[in-house]
Amino acid sequence: MQKQFTGNFFSSNRRAVITGTGSCVPDGIVTNHDLEKMVDTSDEWIVTRTGIKERRRIVAGQESAATLGIEASKRALADAGCSADEIDYIICTTITPEVQYPATACFIQEGLGNNHACAFDITATCSGFVYGCNLAASLISAGQAKKVLVVSTETMSTSLDYTDRNTCVLFGDGSGAAVLELEENSERGLVYNSVHADGSQWETIVCPAPGSRYPIEDVLSGKCKRIYTELNGRETYKQAVSTIVDTITNTLEGAGVSIKDLKMMIPHQMNARIIEAVMKRVEFAPEQVFINIDKYGNTSSASIPIALDEAIKTGQLNKGDLVLLIAFGAGFTWGSNLFKL
Ligand SMILES: CC(C)(COP(=O)(O)OP(=O)(O)OC[C@H]1O[C@@H](n2cnc3c(N)ncnc32)[C@H](O)[C@@H]1OP(=O)(O)O)[C@@H](O)C(=O)NCCC(=O)NCCS
Repeated sequence: MQKQFTGNFFSSNRRAVITGTGSCVPDGIVTNHDLEKMVDTSDEWIVTRTGIKERRRIVAGQESAATLGIEASKRALADAGCSADEIDYIICTTITPEVQYPATACFIQEGLGNNHACAFDITATCSGFVYGCNLAASLISAGQAKKVLVVSTETMSTSLDYTDRNTCVLFGDGSGAAVLELEENSERGLVYNSVHADGSQWETIVCPAPGSRYPIEDVLSGKCKRIYTELNGRETYKQAVSTIVDTITNTLEGAGVSIKDLKMMIPHQMNARIIEAVMKRVEFAPEQVFINIDKYGNTSSASIPIALDEAIKTGQLNKGDLVLLIAFGAGFTWGSNLFKL
């Protein structure tokens, strides 16, 4: 049975239009064959079950969530023809922050040379970019901001146990960013979206320590060893497929658009098999669904903006196209953004 998720329209009076995108991934490539040397796995298993062939990994000490985020943001700002100083809000989405606090957004702000924008992080796991765009458009629509930078940056390699084959093969590092700007009386911009969570499922994907529940003292004393990403893959897979299908269906129904009106659907790149299972239930043409998980693995909240940037820069998406972004992640969190570019 289709679950109903409510969504919201944004008024055409004050629309948040994407004026620039950028992305940055580390140069370091980890292939499936590299992982075969670390854990009991095989290139064939990983490709068949996930569609991933390689992923990127930072060089610790030289690269970080902030360095990737700064570079992706600089590229998005250049693409928008916007100076860093013009940005009113910097919304960073990450589950692998630069430090415990302050926000990674502040490090990115420093790197961009902006010293006045409101800068903060949101932790919405793989749904971060979709949540961030919702927030950016709400601020713009409410008259609180004219130009917002949403930057999603993840160094998942810093949260992985490279002796755990259940998780280390799935994730990668990278960052993607977008500049959203006010356009009055416009048909373009974030038209409709839907953002949700179900906290009863938090244990399905979690990085438990250190935190309030599992304090650093317990980690240092050896009482708590749960410092890496833990995943119930089978349960996530099941929930992801049905939730993503319902989110797409509800969003299209709510916004009053049909699949053929869409130029493209960009799903969170969590597993090519999940995306294929969704495509069996919602009848997109193959060229309408963007997949680049083979190159980057699952980069959590960065996956959608990296894909969006690639689709735009390769000419697969153009001004005026209708694009649907669909996210699902730990929490569980999920949501959609329907943008007219
Ligand atoms: C993780 C995932 C790829 C596993 O695929 P699956 O088909 O569900 O595989 P299973 O978990 O059922 O495991 C099947 C077997 O492969 C084994 N296996 C797990 N990881 C492996 C790996 N990297 N290499 C080889 N074998 C592996 C399991 O131990 C299991 O062996 P068993 O049958 O002897 O017990 C899949 O469940 C998935 O994509 N889940 C969602 C992804 C996700 O959660 N992303 C993060 C959230 S955004």
